[in-house]
Amino acid sequence: MNHESLEIAFGSLRCPTPVELRKALESLTLSMDKIAAHIPEPESLPYGRKVMYTTPHVEVVLIHLPAQQESVPHNHGESFGWEWIISGTLTNIIFNSPFDDDRVQPTQASIVTAGECCYIAPGEIHAIRNNGEIPVISLNVYTPPLRNSKQYQTAAHM
Ligand SMILES: [Fe+2]
Repeated sequence: MNHESLEIAFGSLRCPTPVELRKALESLTLSMDKIAAHIPEPESLPYGRKVMYTTPHVEVVLIHLPAQQESVPHNHGESFGWEWIISGTLTNIIFNSPFDDDRVQPTQASIVTAGECCYIAPGEIHAIRNNGEIPVISLNVYTPPLRNSKQYQTAAHM
């Protein structure tokens, strides 16, 4: 996965719809050997994150979520996007609207296996968790590029 292949897939997109964005993502031929050299190690976050490509319209990010790790709940501002699981099994947890400003509770979870895509809607609050024993590697694409992402706290169980 080099800059040229990302340019071919995403470079001509202008305000893409969800369907157009997913088609562009799935036009890439991805395999672990093509991305192995790019996999980011976690630093300040529970997961590694590397921006692979950006235009004024899209942002492509490679994510490495190690076994038994989980992100904090967050949204992606007004952006929507797709997360394409290349390796491992992701649990995508959806949260309700925040109360007390920044506290949220999980309302549903879905399992996304390698080869599948998960849609993230504008403003949707989610967290990514790896319940498995092998790393989750995903290639995510968002439009417009991420800005105004917000983090939330998980409310204590009542
Ligand atoms: Fe996210």
